[in-house]
Amino acid sequence: MRSVIDILDFSVAELDELISTALDIIENSKKYAHICEGKKLATLFFEPSTRTRLSFEAAMYELGGNVLGFSESNSSSAAKGESIADTAKTVSCYADIIAMRHPKEGAALVASNNATVPVINAGDGGHCHPTQTLADLLTIRRAKGGFNGLTVGLCGDLKFGRTVHSLINALSRYNNINFVLISPEELKLPSYVKKDVLQKNNIPYTQTTDLEAAMPSLDILYMTRVQRERFFNEEDYLRLKDSYILTPDKLKNAKPDLSILHPLPRVNEISVAIDNDPRACYFKQVLNGKYMRMALILKLLKEAGTI
Ligand code: CP
Repeated sequence: MRSVIDILDFSVAELDELISTALDIIENSKKYAHICEGKKLATLFFEPSTRTRLSFEAAMYELGGNVLGFSESNSSSAAKGESIADTAKTVSCYADIIAMRHPKEGAALVASNNATVPVINAGDGGHCHPTQTLADLLTIRRAKGGFNGLTVGLCGDLKFGRTVHSLINALSRYNNINFVLISPEELKLPSYVKKDVLQKNNIPYTQTTDLEAAMPSLDILYMTRVQRERFFNEEDYLRLKDSYILTPDKLKNAKPDLSILHPLPRVNEISVAIDNDPRACYFKQVLNGKYMRMALILKLLKEAGTI
């Protein structure tokens, strides 16, 4: 039974296939409207979410299927001490596919080892968030036409930002990608990502604290929120939370065809004054997330022989 825990669970050919399916869904939505009739998606969200949970649910409805689940751990039997393994075995009796978010790294893997239906990791602690990366890839593909040769700036909380870790893993497999890692000293990219992904694959990267100095070289600017929920103390969060605030003034030396992405939710990282700038892609990214989750549900249910 195939589950998706990490973006590396997909080959580059499979990522391209998912993108092609999503593009076809955008062009020919009616073709897909009944494929999942009679099938159920369970959304098990042990952590807050707006986009990921609702886009999974919208995706399944637009494929003709149904949805069940919970949006907080307190309303499930996890509050009584039920394990992730038992939860996964139980929900497999009710649903054809599971999307799960959990604050603990590795939780989705444990669920997938115990479920009898495909499990999709909808975010596990500070580890990874593969379906956000699918949304990011479709957004970049639609904005830039492809991935090769891009200079990608990643800005903000690169330590705890699981979307950043997944995106680096995905983009590192394309040609001539160059990363600019922009963060405060305390929130630098974890050394395991640098060592196991960037250095191992000879991917060029630079590290800086200076967003404005990096700006002119960037094709993509991926802003991120400082992840309050992963901090051990509030003082550090308050000191670091506004390290980077993108304003129109800061874009004066940016390329005219820069694409600005953010996985959202946004707190202060991007001024609302940028929302109408043609370079702002973050709400397109939200919509692209639904199309890619539709493509993913289809792929996994087809491989499982469910549809
Ligand atoms: N990008 C993202 O995961 O958003 P939510 O937390 O709202 O799901």
